[in-house]
Amino acid sequence: MMRPTTAAAALALLLLASAASAWEQTCGACPVEGACNCTVCALDPVDLRKAARFVVLAGAGTTSSGPTQIAGDLGVGFDQTILGSYNMTDGAQYVATQGGDPAAEGFDSLTTAYNAAAGNVLCPISIIGNLGGLTLYPGLYKSTSGLEIDGSDLTLDAAGDASAVFIFQMATTFKIWTGRQVVLTNGTKAENIFWQVGSSATLYDTSVMYGTVMADQSISSSTGAVLHGRVLARIASVTMESAEFSLP
Ligand SMILES: *[C@@H]1O[C@H](CO)[C@@H](O)[C@H](O)[C@H]1NC(C)=O
Ligand SMILES: *[C@@H]1O[C@H](CO)[C@@H](O)[C@H](O)[C@H]1NC(C)=O
Ligand SMILES: *[C@@H]1O[C@H](CO)[C@@H](O)[C@H](O)[C@H]1NC(C)=O
Repeated sequence: MMRPTTAAAALALLLLASAASAWEQTCGACPVEGACNCTVCALDPVDLRKAARFVVLAGAGTTSSGPTQIAGDLGVGFDQTILGSYNMTDGAQYVATQGGDPAAEGFDSLTTAYNAAAGNVLCPISIIGNLGGLTLYPGLYKSTSGLEIDGSDLTLDAAGDASAVFIFQMATTFKIWTGRQVVLTNGTKAENIFWQVGSSATLYDTSVMYGTVMADQSISSSTGAVLHGRVLARIASVTMESAEFSLP
């Protein structure tokens, strides 16, 4: 089962194990028998409202070097630019120009959703550093610094509950390193995974990412990154390089 590959992963695991026994944990697969209370700790998905249609939202515009394939809508902030090459397979591009247009509404909803995700306090599990090599069950995971997936993949296990929700809160950065993957097992759905990133997120070359990434600042992805979800950057830009993004 869990097999941390680095000291950082071992630390993450240790924090997890002690957190789970200290208070009631979430539903699905409880890592410590008797420590879970589904009535209290079951999370609702973050309500994305009018941001849900967007695969990419970028407050300060987007750049794509190399054709990025996007299945869903792309939106940028007021009078910002959409630069580079895109293959919009199932959606359109929107620039916010006045309140009430699709992109402007998308950003309003994103701010609400970001704040809701950041403000969730339902049975948080403390976690830190590298998640590579871990298997995590549904719940609210909180880092007071950054999170990364390095060295090995991260498995998210819904234990057969297709409505189980995973929310990751981090105060600073998120990074999924080259070739690393988020692996979904036992009914986990991309639409029920949320990453609230306090600063910026990076998806490195050929990484495979699942879930809705909401960053306060920027999101960048490099060659061949694949995302089943959304990259929603409140304030700064989204940059891409021959990536492949689709709605969850
Ligand atoms: C779970 O929490 C609810 C509400 O506080 C409580 O009524 C119930 O007894 C708890 N269940 C367990 C198994 O602790
Ligand atoms: C755009 O993506 C579709 C779907 O994968 C693909 O069939 C098509 O060839 C792509 N077009 C370009 C110009 O890359
Ligand atoms: C979850 O998936 C693993 C690997 O596919 C399997 O061994 C395990 O029995 C599954 N657990 C549940 C609760 O479905």
